[in-house]
Amino acid sequence: MKILVIGGGGREHALVWKLKQSPAVDRIFCAPGNAGTAVIAENVALAASDLPQLRAFAKQNDVDLTVVGPDDPLAMGIVDLFSANKLRVFGPTKSAARLESSKIFAKELMRVQKIPTAQASTFSDSKEALRYCEQLKFPVVIKADGLALGKGVIIAPNIATARSTIEAMMNEARFGEAGRRIVIEEFLRGTECSLHALVDGKNYRLLESARDHKRVFDGDSGPNTGGMGAFSPANNWNARLQSQFENEIMRPLLRGLAKERIAYRGLLYPGLMITSDGARVLEFNCRFGDPETQALLPRMKSDLLPLLGAAIDGKIDSYTIDWDKRATVTVVLASAGYPGKYETGKAISGLDDAAKLEGIQVFHAGTKNANNQVITAGGRVLAVSALGPTIMAARTLAYDAVSRIQFDGCHYRRDIALSAVTS
Ligand code: AMP
Ligand code: GLY
Repeated sequence: MKILVIGGGGREHALVWKLKQSPAVDRIFCAPGNAGTAVIAENVALAASDLPQLRAFAKQNDVDLTVVGPDDPLAMGIVDLFSANKLRVFGPTKSAARLESSKIFAKELMRVQKIPTAQASTFSDSKEALRYCEQLKFPVVIKADGLALGKGVIIAPNIATARSTIEAMMNEARFGEAGRRIVIEEFLRGTECSLHALVDGKNYRLLESARDHKRVFDGDSGPNTGGMGAFSPANNWNARLQSQFENEIMRPLLRGLAKERIAYRGLLYPGLMITSDGARVLEFNCRFGDPETQALLPRMKSDLLPLLGAAIDGKIDSYTIDWDKRATVTVVLASAGYPGKYETGKAISGLDDAAKLEGIQVFHAGTKNANNQVITAGGRVLAVSALGPTIMAARTLAYDAVSRIQFDGCHYRRDIALSAVTS
């Protein structure tokens, strides 16, 4: 089979790496890919958002299955376009992907289905939003309705920040159209957990649990990023939470989508806050998480390819997923300046030295080849994943590998998975 993976981050390198192990796969293309995918697949110089060219490429090259990594092409309707052209594709349709691309749509569905989430109100008028804020207890959370590269969520500690955020989002269009409508919601206290489900329209299979680290600096300080590291399994997840999650979140969600005549097929990843009253939905993501995927796939023993096919064909209930009992810890190495304006073009050394350690996978994100060298080309540059008998062992191994890699301005968190070994 010929596979096309769309995207060029660490998540896509991990997907290519895993799919490459499938006996049914002959060739893998990655668009646009990175220096890591270039070693194990054929990179195609097309942007993930260039839908017409991607469609043409898949047709011309008889691609048997396309796997969509990032959220943007899903929100733009790549699955609808490919399906209309008789191209097999893994991911939700544009209307199903609204669960991620419109927070208001997601909130309304959760309200109707009584899915546990933060209390929220939605606004399209900034004066009304401000009036509402004036009677709230702080902190509150202000969210742009649409996709904003993970930057559209602001935690406002006081009315002054709430005012300036509402002004910037709604009147100054800081996030373009995405911020014209906003959600203002209750601030939830607890610890976060990422759950991934392969959904086939009616049924689903959960992947193992994982935890992301969203803030840029140690001790969960500094601004939010796309994710600075992950580990699996999550230390704040258990059988009781899982059954609450399935009964109060997954089942009602699929029921709610069915009422809207939406059959969700693809990967659904609800981000959860585990509060003292149980799991609450923070957001729905309609794709694999990054860097959670880099922590999850090294633990997946089953072949991923038939699982993706089963989700497309409505047959996921006849599959089980086998997992390695060992744990993974993934540390992200980022460019100087990230998550703000960051540097690129720095030579990376030590990649082979890190990769030769038993249990280590070095997944590339923002990297490219130039003059026979791997150089930095993005904010998040690498995700180093370690598999070990315990979180503690995986952590030690991950940081050993990280210490072998160097590039100018490289920064990473030193406390990934620390909460799992100290609590
Ligand atoms: P989202 O894109 O909705 O997941 O938000 C990004 C991050 O903001 C989450 O991972 C949380 O760390 C934080 N966040 C979002 N909503 C809330 C909330 N209601 N209470 C506390 N933190 C939140
Ligand atoms: N790990 C966060 C995300 O993929 O959205």
